[in-house]
Amino acid sequence: MMKVIKYAFQRHGDDRGMLVALEEGKEIPFEVKRVYYMYDTVTGVRRGFHAHKCLQQILICVHGFCKIHLDNGRGETAEVDLNTPFEGLYISNDMWREMYDFSSDAVLMVLASELYDEADYIRNYDDFVKYVEENRHE
Ligand code: TYD
Repeated sequence: MMKVIKYAFQRHGDDRGMLVALEEGKEIPFEVKRVYYMYDTVTGVRRGFHAHKCLQQILICVHGFCKIHLDNGRGETAEVDLNTPFEGLYISNDMWREMYDFSSDAVLMVLASELYDEADYIRNYDDFVKYVEENRHE
């Protein structure tokens, strides 16, 4: 079973409600260059289907729930539930990911270590497996 890195963020709660704060270098182990989020995801949709050469990410389902399929290209996979706003899933660069089972109210927020760069994407699964194999001893 593949090791999954999930963070439980500190919750600052009081009688007014809850708050989570994320700081670069503390909760987030990389420089955050970009934030994006998915919402109004159509029921039954599966998306992602790529890996990255350099980009690291933390995924937080800030509302609703969804699932993440991870594949390290070496025969190991994991299915991860994201269903609370105080948990973050760390995804390293050379990891194939697919997102699925979105609730209709899901908001999936992503903190990313790089700006958007199509050249950093590996969108073909066979290319990904080859990439992992070639970069194994680096
Ligand atoms: P896409 O890469 O298809 O999303 P997924 O994570 O499901 O593979 O992105 C959808 C569209 O949004 C696509 O046209 C590219 C654009 N996009 C940006 O412009 N900036 C971004 O940071 C991201 C993640 C996507």
